[in-house]
Amino acid sequence: MDKIVITGNGPLQGDVHVAGAKNAALPIIAAALLTAQPLQLSNVPGVRDIGTALKLLEMLGAAVERDGTNLTLTSSNINSLHVPYELVKTMRGSILTLGPLLARFGEADVSLPGGCAIGSRPVNEHIMGLQSLGADIDIEGGYIKAKASRLRGAHHTFDVPSVTATENLIMAASLAEGETVLENCALEPEIGDLAELLNRMGANIEGAGTSKITIEGKTELHGAEHRVPPDRIETGTFLVAAAATRGDIRVLDTNPDYLQHVLGKLEQAGAELETGDDWIRLNMRDRRPQAVNITTAPYPAFPTDMQAQFMALNALAEGSSTVVENIFENRFMHVAELQRMGADIELQGHTAIVKGRERLKGAPVMATDLRASACLIIAALAADGDTTVDRVYHLDRGYANIDTKLAQLGAVIHRV
Ligand code: EPU
Repeated sequence: MDKIVITGNGPLQGDVHVAGAKNAALPIIAAALLTAQPLQLSNVPGVRDIGTALKLLEMLGAAVERDGTNLTLTSSNINSLHVPYELVKTMRGSILTLGPLLARFGEADVSLPGGCAIGSRPVNEHIMGLQSLGADIDIEGGYIKAKASRLRGAHHTFDVPSVTATENLIMAASLAEGETVLENCALEPEIGDLAELLNRMGANIEGAGTSKITIEGKTELHGAEHRVPPDRIETGTFLVAAAATRGDIRVLDTNPDYLQHVLGKLEQAGAELETGDDWIRLNMRDRRPQAVNITTAPYPAFPTDMQAQFMALNALAEGSSTVVENIFENRFMHVAELQRMGADIELQGHTAIVKGRERLKGAPVMATDLRASACLIIAALAADGDTTVDRVYHLDRGYANIDTKLAQLGAVIHRV
C-alpha cells in the first residue's frame, strides 16, 4: 500500500495546473448511459474514482476509449443493469447510474452504498425522487431494485438539497414522458455543467444552478462533446497548501467564480489574492495565516469538501477559530491525526475549536478519506521534520498526481 513521505521545507512557489473536476466528471460519465451514441469528453481527470466509474460502465456493456484526458463512451450495447456492491462501496458516485439506467432501460438493480468514513450518507432523496417519477422501487438484499416501463414527469420537492440526487433526477427526467419540476435542488456548479451537457445531448432543462429546475422529457438523447470544468476543490486545496506554507503560487486552468467563499476566507486569513479568467494567484509570503471561522453549508456557502484543508490551516494560524461541519456528521476524522502532529483542537459535536500553534511536528499519520488526506498533506508541508501519510489510496481517488504537482512547487515529497 502506497505511503507519502513529506519533509516540511517552507514556502510553496510557482505555477500549478488543476485537472478537470472529479465531481463534475462522475455524473457526466453516468450520462453516457442515456444514449446509444458516443459521448466525447475532454479534460477528464486521471483519478481513481474515474477509473472505477469507467470500470462500472464497461461492466454494464459500454465501450470506453481513453486517450490521456480524452474519453469516448458509447452505450450502444448495454447488457447488464446490475451495479454491484463491490463498486458502489468503493465509490458512492456509482449511485449516479440509477437514474440513467432506469430511464433508458426501464429497470435497474443498484447496490445501496451503506455508510462511509464521513457519515451515514443515505440515498433516500434519490429513491423518493424516482418514485415521484413513477418508479416502482423495492429494497432487497441491500440492492435498490427499480422498475418503470417509462418514467412520467412530475412535480417533486427534495426534503434535503442533495448534489447527486439532483443530478440523478435531472438525468432520469430527461427521458421521462412530459414535464418534471424539481424544487429545493442543490445549487453546486457541477449540476449546471451536467445540465449544459444534457441540453447538448438534446434534453430541455431550464433553471439548473437554481433551486427550481424544469425538465421537458424527450424520447431519446443523442451523442455530444463536452469539456469537464476545472476542479474547484483541487484548486482550493493548492491555495490552502500555499497559504499554510507562507508561499506564493499561481493556480492555472481554473475558474475563480466557483470559489468565491473559499477565496474570501483565504483573504481573511491574510492572503493576497489576484485572479484572472482562468487563474488565481495567492501570496502569503512572510506572514503567518490568521485563524478564520468556517461553517460548511450547501453551495454557494463554504464547501464541506474544503473543511479539512482549512482545519490544517487553522491549526497553524495565529489565534483561535471554530470549524462547524453541517453537511456530514462524521467528517472530523482528520482531527485525531492532526493532534498527533501537535495540533490543539477540541471537538464538541459538529464543532471543532482550534487554537493555532506556531509549528506542527511531523509524525506518522493515517488518511481516512479523500479530503482528510489533503488536510494531512497540507499540515505535513508546513510541519517541522518528516510526516508519513499512510493509506494514500484515499488521496488518489480524487487528486491527479498531487505528489508530482507539489514537488514542482518545491515540496520535498515522495511515494514509498
Ligand atoms: N442526504 C440525505 N439523503 C440523500 C442524499 C443526501 O439526507 O438521499 C444528505 C446527506 O447526508 C448530506 C446532505 O444531504 O447531509 C448533502 O449530501 P449530498 O447528497 O449533496 O452529497 P453527495 O451528492 O453524496 C456530493 C459530492 C461529495 C460532496 C457532497 C457535498 C459527488 C460525487 N460527491 O456528494 O464529494 O462532499 O456532494 O458537497 O459529487 C468529495 O469529493 O470528497 C465528496 C465527498
